[in-house]
Amino acid sequence: AIDLAGRHFLKELDFTAEEFRGLIELAAELKAAKKSGTETQRLRGKNIALIFEKTSTRTRCAFEVAAADQGASTTCLDPSGSQMGHKESVKDTARVLGRMFDGIEYRGDSQAAVEELAAQGGVPVFNGLTDDWHPTQMLADVLTMTEHSDKPLERIAFAYLGDARFNMGNSYLITGALLGMDVRIVAPKAYWPAEGIVAEAHRLAGASGATVTLTEDIAEGVKGADFVVTDVWVSMGEPKEVWAERIEALAPYAVTMDVLRATGNADVKFLHCLPAYHDLGTAVGREVEAAYGLAELEVTDEVFESAHSVVFDEAENRMHTIKAVLVATLAPPAAKG
Ligand code: CP
Ligand code: NVA
Repeated sequence: AIDLAGRHFLKELDFTAEEFRGLIELAAELKAAKKSGTETQRLRGKNIALIFEKTSTRTRCAFEVAAADQGASTTCLDPSGSQMGHKESVKDTARVLGRMFDGIEYRGDSQAAVEELAAQGGVPVFNGLTDDWHPTQMLADVLTMTEHSDKPLERIAFAYLGDARFNMGNSYLITGALLGMDVRIVAPKAYWPAEGIVAEAHRLAGASGATVTLTEDIAEGVKGADFVVTDVWVSMGEPKEVWAERIEALAPYAVTMDVLRATGNADVKFLHCLPAYHDLGTAVGREVEAAYGLAELEVTDEVFESAHSVVFDEAENRMHTIKAVLVATLAPPAAKG
């Protein structure tokens, strides 16, 4: 079984392809054990701090349920209820939490902050999303892909449509390249990941055998894809003013039934990390609808609610995969199965 005792998870490249695959296998084992009522608790007596400087439904609940299932306790800190960020530096917070907790999860805008926590805390630190990376989401997405495809990972093709300059686009490109997959970024050129990240993906592909494609052409980009994936066009922490520019640039890249048909794969599956703007029945959605006259954004309600969509399997898998990270990094080696 995989043993990553004491390791951080700050970005996908903290793990080799073998280690990443090992986490997916461990997650699948933990999922099966939970479903069959045979899960054994390997984290009894452990305490885990969860820092959320941005809002969350899935990531927070996944860490809390995963920890509880494994016998660990969690303490959640947010900016309004703690000193971090306004009265106390990340560095001091890290040195305090490291004295009390066995592991620390961090969600915020800054990758530098999660790296500072890791450098100063003295315990494993997990990135629960920054502006640059969403690595625990990648574990869930890859597990979901393995569950919904008969192919080995290195034969799976997936296409990401939308703003690829942010956490999800960066993480998909690097994860696909690391694992030897056929990864396509389909977006206007101005929305492709930064040059350094693209170069890193090509370097990884050289070692893994991955196929890395960046294209503005939707038909070319999705052809033969097993999975079509997307993300919101405006991320947490971005100002309202960017909506107009995003809608104009990215509307052609919305995931519609036509896009799924263009894959030529009747069995194509749709993934989205969520939350998604598919029916705009939310406060932000209604505001966007009133301002821009659109009733759905990065994915149509038809696709989201179709049999192609496996987004709730993906959401559930956040919990099983985050549990794998906690067990692999925090469980005492002797107790590992
Ligand atoms: N996908 C994801 O990270 O969801 P939350 O923002 O709800 O945690
Ligand atoms: N790109 C999105 C992902 C949410 C899980 C954001 O950062 O808000």
